[in-house]
Amino acid sequence: MSKKITIAIDGFSSTGKSTLAKQLAKHLGYVYVDSGAMYRAVTYFAMQNGCVGPDFFDKQTLINSLPFIKLHFEFNPDLGFAEMYLNGENVEAAIRTIEVSGYVSKIAEVSEVRAKLVEQQQEMGKDKGIVMDGRDIGTVVFPDAELKVFMTASPETRARRRYDELQAKGQEVSFEAVLKNVVERDHIDTHREDSPLVMADGAIEIDNSALTREEQFDAVLALVDQVSKSL
Ligand code: CDP
Ligand code: CDP
Repeated sequence: MSKKITIAIDGFSSTGKSTLAKQLAKHLGYVYVDSGAMYRAVTYFAMQNGCVGPDFFDKQTLINSLPFIKLHFEFNPDLGFAEMYLNGENVEAAIRTIEVSGYVSKIAEVSEVRAKLVEQQQEMGKDKGIVMDGRDIGTVVFPDAELKVFMTASPETRARRRYDELQAKGQEVSFEAVLKNVVERDHIDTHREDSPLVMADGAIEIDNSALTREEQFDAVLALVDQVSKSL
């Protein structure tokens, strides 16, 4: 059996990171961790507890609440991946709304939030055999990952994919609102002071605007084989 490695997948919003990460984890028998789900769960907590709203952000109350925010993933065999739990409650569906998407990048700018989540993410990856996707996985969480992938695609392609996904889930939202959210989050994520979204040293860029899910999977699996052979 080949040696287990760490695979870090970063990139812009809705580039297909989690789709790819799930495919890889399933194929390789690795653990998959959606780090974005953790930022989304903290955001959901902030919304539920009056820390953030349309015209306010009580950052200090959120920081003071951090010790009371417990996150964990639980594998759902029916779905084939792990779902996000916040203080014991399954929040997998609640964190995927456009409302949470609207606040999450603001919450993810807070260094205290990042420090807490990064610590938990590093703990989850200490035995390798993990695929994690997010914005700072190859730069901050696992700078020594054996394989780092940086995903890109045009904003319109990404918004279209996300829009179709939300429609399929029955969420009422316009294509324009989804595109606006995707572009706004990219801007905040790439411009923030703490752990901005940048391509990590040694990362391999994949533009999947014209790739199917299968094509992107095959391309990255070939990279995994290449890396594994070189170890
Ligand atoms: O919607 P999408 O799947 O592209 O985003 P996500 O992976 O669920 O992440 C939601 C947001 O969390 C991002 O827009 C970032 O603001 C933040 N995030 C982060 O700052 N660092 C990570 N490692 C993962 C997500
Ligand atoms: O995790 P991230 O936000 O980067 O994206 P995702 O949730 O994996 O993918 C967003 C949507 O794009 C999903 O509905 C995927 O099925 C779709 N997708 C696609 O149509 N073609 C690809 N090559 C990759 C993803």
